Amino acid sequence: MKRKGEDFRTIWLKPGDPGTVQIIDQRKLPHDFQIRDLQSYQDGIHAIQEMLVRGAPLIGATAAWSLYLAGLRASASNRQSTVLQAAIEIGAARPTAVNLQWAIDRVLAAIVDTDDDDIVRVLRAEAESICNEDIEISRGIGRHGLTIIEEIAARKPGETVNILTHCNAGALATINWGTATAPIYFAHQKGIKVHVWVDETRPRNQGSQLTAWELAENGVPHTLIVDNAGGHLMQHGMVDLCIVGTDRTTRSGDVANKIGTYLKALAAADNNVPFYVALPSTTIDWSIDDGLAEIPIEERDTTEVSHIYGESDGKMLAVNTVPTQTPIRNFAFDITPARLVTGLITEIGICAATKDGLAALFSGKESPSGKQP
Ligand code: MRU
Repeated sequence: MKRKGEDFRTIWLKPGDPGTVQIIDQRKLPHDFQIRDLQSYQDGIHAIQEMLVRGAPLIGATAAWSLYLAGLRASASNRQSTVLQAAIEIGAARPTAVNLQWAIDRVLAAIVDTDDDDIVRVLRAEAESICNEDIEISRGIGRHGLTIIEEIAARKPGETVNILTHCNAGALATINWGTATAPIYFAHQKGIKVHVWVDETRPRNQGSQLTAWELAENGVPHTLIVDNAGGHLMQHGMVDLCIVGTDRTTRSGDVANKIGTYLKALAAADNNVPFYVALPSTTIDWSIDDGLAEIPIEERDTTEVSHIYGESDGKMLAVNTVPTQTPIRNFAFDITPARLVTGLITEIGICAATKDGLAALFSGKESPSGKQP
C-alpha cells in the first residue's frame, strides 16, 4: 500500500525519538494527511476512542504501543502495576474488535516474568512484533484471497472482476495492505482487471473517506456508492464478489463487522453472489460460539448520525441534518450469521464459515492469536 508512491505503515515509533509513537489522524482523510504524536497511554486511548485510528488490527497494535508508552513513562519501581492499570483502561476503549484484548493479553503475557528494568525493552519488542506480524498476516490473506479473484477472472476472460466492499478493511485498518483489500491489491498488481464498488459506510463514511482514498492512491479502479445501492447492483449482475473485513468472528463463523454488513450478506445470498470475509486469525474469538448473543455491539455518539462531516474551503465542517427532538441510536456494528458467509479468508488459507471449517484449518497449526480451537 502506497501513499504518493511511498510505502507506509499506519503506526510507528518516531525516528530518533523512542518516547513518541506516531499515527495518521484518520478523521482528517481524505482531505488532509496529518500525523499525530502519542506520548502517553492516555493518548493511545483517546486515539482509539475518537477513531484517529480504527479497524480491528490497528486498534490492537495501538493498544500494544499504548502499553509500551505506559511502561516507558512509569517510574522504575512501579512499571508492572502501571502497565496493568493501563491495560484495564485501554481494554475498555472500544468493545467490539477482539484484537484490542488479544493484543493486551499478548503484551501482558510477555512481561509477566520480566525484571522491572527490562520491561520497556520487552514492551517495545512486543509492539514491534505485533506490527510486523500483522503485515505478514495481511500478505497471507492477500495470497489466499487472490485465488478467488483469479477463479472469477478465469470464468470471464478479458472482463473486469467487480468486487463490493463495506467500510474500510484496508491498509488503514491494519498496519499495511489490509484484510479485505489485500486480495484486491494483489490482483491489481498481477494485472487482473478489478473494479471495486465502495460502500460509503454511514455514519462515519470509512468507505468514502478511507477506502476510496486508499484505492485512488494505489491506482485501483473503484466507484463510490451509497450504502443502499449494493442490493440493486447485485440484482443487475454488477457484482461478482463481496469481500468485507471483521472485528470479531466466533469459532462458529459468525461475523461482527461494520453496521450494514449483514444487509449486504442478505442481498448477496439472494443473488448468488459469493460473500467472503477476510480475517486475520487475531480476529477470531475462539471463546464464543453465537455472535448474536455473545458479541458486544458498540453504540457510539448520536452526533455521528445527526451530522454529516466534510470539508469546505479547506475547513472541516459538521452539518446537522436531523430535527433536534428526534431520538437517535447509533449502532456501530452488526452480526452476519455464518450461514450467509461463503468462506473465511485467513492468512493460512480459506475455510467454510463453520465450527468444523475453522477447527480443521487451524488444527495443529501455530495461530498468531495463540489460541487454538
Ligand atoms: O469502526 P471501525 O472503523 O473501527 O470499523 C472497522 C470495520 O468494521 C472493519 O471492517 C474491521 O475492523 C476490519 S479491519 C481489517
